[in-house]
Amino acid sequence: MKKGYTTNIRNTALSIALLSVMASCSSDPNSPGVEYMPDMYRSPAVEAYVDYDNIENSSVRKPVEGTIKFSDDNSLAWVNMPYDLKNTPEDYETAATLVSPVKMTEASVEKGKDIYTKFCLHCHGESGKGDGAVVSNGGFPPPPAYDGPLKTLPEGKMFHTITYGKGQMGSHASQLNKLERWTVIQYVKFLQNGGKMPVSTASVETVEVATDNQ
Ligand code: HEC
Repeated sequence: MKKGYTTNIRNTALSIALLSVMASCSSDPNSPGVEYMPDMYRSPAVEAYVDYDNIENSSVRKPVEGTIKFSDDNSLAWVNMPYDLKNTPEDYETAATLVSPVKMTEASVEKGKDIYTKFCLHCHGESGKGDGAVVSNGGFPPPPAYDGPLKTLPEGKMFHTITYGKGQMGSHASQLNKLERWTVIQYVKFLQNGGKMPVSTASVETVEVATDNQ
């Protein structure tokens, strides 16, 4: 009696094992058989740059708002910091007090000229008179001349305008980082001064040296 009972258990166990082995078999040699948890065999492949129309599974996500780009050069960390002033008439006035972190030197003017040639010349013209190709060929209203109505425009206001745009001029904040914006301004100041280095640059440096020595 006891022996028959054990045999029964053994037979049942064997049949279950046999059945499950058979169930996982298939005539297709390439079939992986029964998969109990398919995601463990093949994790769903999320391709980069594919819009899955589902925020949870999207492969490329925008950085969280307010994310600041990492800079491996500490002295240039300010370049990635947000610009504090807002796009309002009041803040435009406040911008007049901003002082460029870029010194006006022959080298910075030269770099500024390079940026100006790529991003500004087609509207403002080669010498900043407001006669770029977009104006002469395209019928675009001419921007004011740098050495005319804009001759005394403070550099901070220029920075504000290049950041946010003004009137017909669009924002350049996505094309030029803060350092590039201040650098192109060195060339605008050069043009404001009729295409020569302002005499005041020498005195600016003297003042700085004097302050450092105190
Ligand atoms: C699409 C043509 C266009 C481009 C490109 C352009 N500007 Fe202008 N810019 C204008 C116009 C138009 C104005 C006059 C805006 C107003 O006062 O309504 C202007 C105004 C300005 C002013 C005076 C801002 C003020 O606060 O009054 C500066 C400085 C200036 N631009 C610099 C630049 C620099 C630097 C670049 C290149 C990085 C540039 N612009 C690119 C059309 C342009």
